[in-house]
Amino acid sequence: MKAIITSCASLFVASTLSRKVESSTKQGTAILIALGLLFGGVTAASSISGKKWQAPATEAAKKNPVAASQTSTAEGQKLYTKHCASCHGPSGDGDGSAAAELGIHPARLSESRSQSEGALFWKITTGKKPMPGFGTKLSETDRWNLINYIRTLGGKQAGQ
Ligand code: HEC
Repeated sequence: MKAIITSCASLFVASTLSRKVESSTKQGTAILIALGLLFGGVTAASSISGKKWQAPATEAAKKNPVAASQTSTAEGQKLYTKHCASCHGPSGDGDGSAAAELGIHPARLSESRSQSEGALFWKITTGKKPMPGFGTKLSETDRWNLINYIRTLGGKQAGQ
């Protein structure tokens, strides 16, 4: 709801602004301002609605200290099968058996490459209902091993 109000408000401000400024030289500036407001409103709206799960910037910037060796990805695969596959599916496509039972749609980890490893680490550590946080269940190294494995899902090379 808040999100809709924000977008409407910025749309309103934007249209009033462009109507007020009449001289053609100023119109360009007005349109730019209007576009800026509109874009700002939409950005604010999407962060308020909380639809997208986003890691804080400082966490997302964290670097993976564990090299994506074969030992690491193999360890990650074991952990994945044990703790994650029931929801995220055997290949990270979000089609695990528990997902169907719970009526949920876990993220497709095979398509998580746009996210930094730091962001994935933070999400795995904290969790978000119905996904449990693994900060107390798995050691830091285990969580990074998992990320090295997740990076291999979707047919891409790890460590990129
Ligand atoms: C009970 C089911 C469940 C289990 C078990 C589970 N997850 Fe999730 N996971 C989810 C759901 C549902 C989401 C989507 C949350 C959202 O975006 O609102 C999610 C989201 C994620 C995300 C964020 C992806 C993105 O694109 O934002 C990552 C990373 C992740 N899970 C990794 C894991 C790992 C690694 C494990 C195992 C250690 C695991 N999950 C176990 C249900 C689960």
